[in-house]
Amino acid sequence: MSRTHRVAGIGAAILIGALSLTACGANEAQSGGGDSADGGGDSKVIALLLPESKTTRYEAFDRPLFEDKVAELCDDCEVVYYNADQDESKQTQQVDTAISEGASVVVLDPVNGAGAGGMVQSAQDSGAKVVAYDRFIAEADYYMSFDNETVGKMQAEALVEAMGDKGNILMLNGAPSDPNAAQFKAGAHSVLDSSGVKILEEYDNPDWSPENAQNWTTDQLSKYDPSEIQGVYAANDGQAGGVVAALTGAGVAADELPPITGQDAEVAAIQRILAGEQAMTIYKPIPIEAETAAEVAVALANGDEVPTTSESGVEQSEYEGVTSYIFDPIVVTQDNVADTVIADGFYSADDICTGEYAEACEAAGIS
Ligand code: GAL
Repeated sequence: MSRTHRVAGIGAAILIGALSLTACGANEAQSGGGDSADGGGDSKVIALLLPESKTTRYEAFDRPLFEDKVAELCDDCEVVYYNADQDESKQTQQVDTAISEGASVVVLDPVNGAGAGGMVQSAQDSGAKVVAYDRFIAEADYYMSFDNETVGKMQAEALVEAMGDKGNILMLNGAPSDPNAAQFKAGAHSVLDSSGVKILEEYDNPDWSPENAQNWTTDQLSKYDPSEIQGVYAANDGQAGGVVAALTGAGVAADELPPITGQDAEVAAIQRILAGEQAMTIYKPIPIEAETAAEVAVALANGDEVPTTSESGVEQSEYEGVTSYIFDPIVVTQDNVADTVIADGFYSADDICTGEYAEACEAAGIS
């Protein structure tokens, strides 16, 4: 297993605080406006643009961790924040707004990686530097993400192992506009295609949404009896949730669900893993990513040299010609929940062990 990373001081407080930001983040995005920490003045403006809000990580972790680290490193920096709600044209407008608000650094997690060149160009034409956050943009000045192909491989390896290297699966990939989705898919295929597992049907979910995952899976269940499906590759936890809803909706008992994969270590997924309803997830220690982004952004805003090694010890490298920082993903199964997301402080036992999950927590040694 990959090494784990210690993360200090992240727990229930941040999670609860962050969840309450979700609603206000969505409202801002709807009104098309940004959200700044103060009124501007002579502060250095750093823009953070995230792609969507159905996946919990963005509002619960990426945004607050980035904002906190910028505040820690820079007294006169101001963060303006936008969420595109998976809408490419909205994100283009948000970049324009950020530029008009004087952003000198644009940290951009694009809805559409391949189509983001125009946004990068506008930002660079205004004199701003662009950091591609989590999803690759070829034209960006810097890039940071987890090793996405490895994510796909790890998911597929865990699935094949849980299935004893035989049986049929449904495969649900991420949004075709997201360059990460193509990497997860390629990594997964590199394992599945030479395994004893057979892909019955495969789907590229246009917006990563749990609803689409549920509807598509329900459609497949009109062609296949649930007993013909021995496993499901779901590229992220949101989709895994949709798959579970579809299968249980079709009458499969919760304790008879086939192995299902995921990604993002969402609270609901960790609970499903403990309850035996999901086989695994991928934990990406987001503090390392968000805080490295903040370090790079602050250095750029101050006109300082960008650190070649992040505070968390990750070395700069090069990815497809762009100066990058690439982080290690971690597999989470029932056996190591305690040693990964809990030991890291990503979640506290109280976040996970609510009501019906208390017993499963105890069985897994989490209290
Ligand atoms: C990917 C990201 C995942 C997940 C997904 C859904 O780009 O790497 O962590 O958030 O998007 O939006």
